[in-house]
Amino acid sequence: MNKKKIVVLTGAGISAESGIKTFRDSDGLWEEYRVEEVATYDAWLRNQELVLEFYNKRRRQLATVEPNAAHKALARLEEKFDVQIVTQNVDDLHERGGSTKILHIHGELVKVRSTGDENLVYNVGYKDVNKGDLCEKGFQLRPNIVWFGEAVPLIERAAELVMEADIMLVIGTSMVVYPAAGLIHYTPSHCKKYLIDPNSTPTRGISNLEVIAEKAGTAVPRLVDELLASN
Ligand code: OAD
Repeated sequence: MNKKKIVVLTGAGISAESGIKTFRDSDGLWEEYRVEEVATYDAWLRNQELVLEFYNKRRRQLATVEPNAAHKALARLEEKFDVQIVTQNVDDLHERGGSTKILHIHGELVKVRSTGDENLVYNVGYKDVNKGDLCEKGFQLRPNIVWFGEAVPLIERAAELVMEADIMLVIGTSMVVYPAAGLIHYTPSHCKKYLIDPNSTPTRGISNLEVIAEKAGTAVPRLVDELLASN
């Protein structure tokens, strides 16, 4: 028999207990930095050093943290389900936690791409990337991150996956950044949805939904155990 499909949409909250700051909580990254200065194409045109250093810092930090119980529990779900992670996170903690199907809709910290040919993408791991670091065609390298105001090329693929979900988990996202926040509305009507976030996020108009107002590190392993036991 075909395995049931679970789509998991994750946001910064799933990595919070690994020690990575979220964006919009008090003490979040967007309190420390202005989005317009580090995460837009205009920012890149104005000050490449500043933008590159912002992502260098994120990469250096990523090298020092580990996946937490929530990332690891999602990998266990694959024992019985066809699990697709759709993450807004640019960290690699789902990969290191053991999940195998991961779509990074906002890009990846460990990758950079050419500013002259977007198909030239390079894996830099946790290394710094500086002004003057060029692709093989001689163009400056930029973070392979979707900045505010830029298109989200993988959103259609993400929507297609959500349309096939039997179960959807939404974990640790404030659901304010579109188009990712709209993905939950693409679920088929039979799809059971779970939202795991200690703070309330917008849920109006979402049916067949169970809200679990707890931290991911405790709620996700428990929910995964329940789902594995029930299947
Ligand atoms: P936000 O910072 O907007 O939201 C984080 C969510 O995580 C909030 O709803 C918190 O309540 C929740 N949270 C905090 N600690 C948690 C925990 N231990 N367990 C579970 N949930 C917890 O982050 P995102 O929704 O991911 O875009 O933000 C979306 C996008 O905005 C990001 O991908 C990023 C950002 O600007 C780009 O970089 C392109």
